[in-house]
Amino acid sequence: MCGIIGYCGSNHATDILLDGLSKLEYRGYDSAGIALSQNEQRIETIKTTGKVQELRNKVMALAPKNSYCGIGHTRWATHGGVTETNAHPHSNGSVTLIHNGIIENYSEIALELAKVNKFPKSQTDTEIAAMLFSHLYNGNPLETIETACAKLEGAYAFCILFADHPNEIYCVRNASPLVAVENEFGSYIASDMTALIEYSKDYFIVPEHHVAKLTKNGIKLLNFAGNEVKPTMLHASWDADSAQKNGYAHFMLKEIHEQPDSLLTTIMPRIKNGVINFEEEQIPDSLFMNFSNIVITACGTAMNAGLVGKSLIEKVLRIPVSVEPASEFRYGDPIIDDKTLVMIISQSGETADSLAALHLAKERGSKTLAIVNVKGSSIARESDYVLYTHAGPEIAVASTKAFTVQMAALYLICGKIASVRNLLSQEQLHTFIEELSSLPKVIETALQLEPTLKEVSSMLSETSDCFFLGRGLDYPLACEGSLKLKEISYIHSEAYVAGELKHGPIALITDQVPVVAIVTNTITVPKMISNIREVKARGSKILVITDQDMSAYPDVADALIELPKTDELFTPFTISVAVQFLSYYVSLHRGLDVDQPRNLAKSVTVE
Ligand code: M6R
Repeated sequence: MCGIIGYCGSNHATDILLDGLSKLEYRGYDSAGIALSQNEQRIETIKTTGKVQELRNKVMALAPKNSYCGIGHTRWATHGGVTETNAHPHSNGSVTLIHNGIIENYSEIALELAKVNKFPKSQTDTEIAAMLFSHLYNGNPLETIETACAKLEGAYAFCILFADHPNEIYCVRNASPLVAVENEFGSYIASDMTALIEYSKDYFIVPEHHVAKLTKNGIKLLNFAGNEVKPTMLHASWDADSAQKNGYAHFMLKEIHEQPDSLLTTIMPRIKNGVINFEEEQIPDSLFMNFSNIVITACGTAMNAGLVGKSLIEKVLRIPVSVEPASEFRYGDPIIDDKTLVMIISQSGETADSLAALHLAKERGSKTLAIVNVKGSSIARESDYVLYTHAGPEIAVASTKAFTVQMAALYLICGKIASVRNLLSQEQLHTFIEELSSLPKVIETALQLEPTLKEVSSMLSETSDCFFLGRGLDYPLACEGSLKLKEISYIHSEAYVAGELKHGPIALITDQVPVVAIVTNTITVPKMISNIREVKARGSKILVITDQDMSAYPDVADALIELPKTDELFTPFTISVAVQFLSYYVSLHRGLDVDQPRNLAKSVTVE
């Protein structure tokens, strides 16, 4: 939700800011802006609605004077529509700032400021924050930031320019992310490492309630008392190439194709001598011994991975698992205690609802285990234990490789619980681990379905409504397929457990409503066939995605996707490749922006 970047150094700031914003654009892309610090205590701001390319055009046309220090922002609108006035940076008096997050008490602050005749020009919470900083400014940035932050409620990452402190950037955060690096050309700060990896792989996360002061000579991390604090350095294990398209038309396509590697690096280091081993993660076996039930909480695709985890763990281990959308969990007074293992799944590790769910679980005394992709992110840092997925940066808004590695992490956990609690025989466990280890290869094979999926995607590309049906482990994949399709193709799509259709939704079926039926759950194949016939009888065109022998039912499918055969428990992986390609090619046929669909942003750091 919004991408922010700052630079101070010996190079021209404009290029670094614009390049950084292009890399952060997946975090929000409805407007963008930069502010440049000029030596004569002047700050020049350029902003526009639209994407970073439009900002680039405007900046090039205006050819701002050389500046070696500046801040940049790409916005995902929360308060106020998509207008140039609402775009960041926002200025007031000596203060110009950019913000990622939401100031929850902005209307109270606005009322206070109105009493001294200060009124905003925009509709944003960010401008109110700029006005507050400016109102409190006493010439000392650190003191002002401390006083202002004490008044602000909500999530924020701010990068602030004070006009009378040229060539310095002051940064502070609460909940929203900020990472910083330095090299011989200066100091850099951004919402995430995708914008900074080309400058250094060694970085630190700005701790909450500290101020990072950037100058051309480096970064000083200060606490509010003004004392310098040594940052905790981290090292990124991926390089700049991972955040490029590398010849693919879209990040989404590249990320679909990266799944064999992501699975390999997520699964294999955790299997040692044929046994699932979390020693490197310092996750003790006792964590898996001492709970009575599991609650998984997450959002969107990560929650769909959780639904797969539920079906898997309940089926294999007979341990009760519930899956709660994090946005409900946090306000729903969940029934959890110190006997509950709460798992939080998040690619970004910054999703506000998931983070709040984690806080609640900890408050209630539950042990928390996070499955997170972004190293050092808030959810990873704050949970008791973390099992990282190693998908590398995921840039496309539609999550693909992050989903399959989240499932892989849940399979690892399932295998671990089975071994710690002796819930499977040695032979069963061995087979389970073998199947898990073979996933990268299986997915390689599934990727070969691309041309077929491209072809059949025409079945969906002109429709305005469609259904995804499945039963058992196929149902979470129906949910994921449906979510993927709606988010990047704007087709209204619903996922149903196939048996439920006749209890109402079948009223929506016509010859204009195609159905994607996922059929891998062996015991329900005949039932699925009946359900498919029910919709086919009402005119639907049917696309069947299956690993089953369908020769006995030659008349049910208008198009058939035959998945590579795997053990029945592992079909979610091959199905996910199929539904990912399907939605990708539908979006492409419709001429849409695959990687940056309307209204969305990659990381949802607001409620
Ligand atoms: O970063 P997270 O995994 O916590 O994000 C959760 C959802 O916002 C995310 O999965 C979203 O649903 C994706 N855009 C779906 O493709």
